[in-house]
Amino acid sequence: MTKKRVGVLISGRGSNLQALIEAAKAPDYPAKLALVVSNVAGAQGLARADDAGIPTQVVDHKAFASRPGFEAVLDEALHGAGVDLLCNAGFMRLLTEDFVTRWLNRHLNIHPSLLPAFKGLNTHARVVEAGAKITGCTVHFVRAAMDDGPIVAQAAVPVAPDDTEDSLAARVLAAEHKLYPHALRLVASGDVRVEGEHVVGISRPEGENALFSPPLPGTL
Ligand code: GAR
Repeated sequence: MTKKRVGVLISGRGSNLQALIEAAKAPDYPAKLALVVSNVAGAQGLARADDAGIPTQVVDHKAFASRPGFEAVLDEALHGAGVDLLCNAGFMRLLTEDFVTRWLNRHLNIHPSLLPAFKGLNTHARVVEAGAKITGCTVHFVRAAMDDGPIVAQAAVPVAPDDTEDSLAARVLAAEHKLYPHALRLVASGDVRVEGEHVVGISRPEGENALFSPPLPGTL
């Protein structure tokens, strides 16, 4: 098996990066983390990559007058590391249409909601405010619009009546850490592909897999 070489883009904590690092330790995992790039110097995720022996680079967007200038250096770093697939993991910069086109269908993002609901920032506070009963997380191929693009995988997470932004964020994050390695495996193995802006090739789960919140009577 030839493992896909993956570049991970981060801006901060890097807990999803850590989940990918752990998954990639399995001999049969179809991806190897080749480079971690942060647009923020000192991001916690950089230390996680160092500990795992993964090369890192900081490309600080503030050092560039324009987005294309920033992205040219980013591209150079990724190509220098022989990256085949790109994963945003808490990477909080919008990318230009040109960059997105260069990495089209080779570039994933994770977002902490069931897209297309609750795109953007402060997701969990808005979910709580809306009184939603189920939320979740999504891994999708990147398009130029924020948190937009063909969906690879989603996990549903119930919202508890007494949830705060923080308690909900923690529950969703635990699901993110399972979902991202799963989605990257599907993409890196070539099991799924994009057709007409939908991801196809995923076998349908067997049986009744709906998550009800509140639970159906008799299922507690
Ligand atoms: C994660 O919850 C991720 O889904 C979110 O940022 C957090 C990063 O945490 N991403 C977005 O909101 C993208 N729109 P991490 O740095 O610990 O992985």
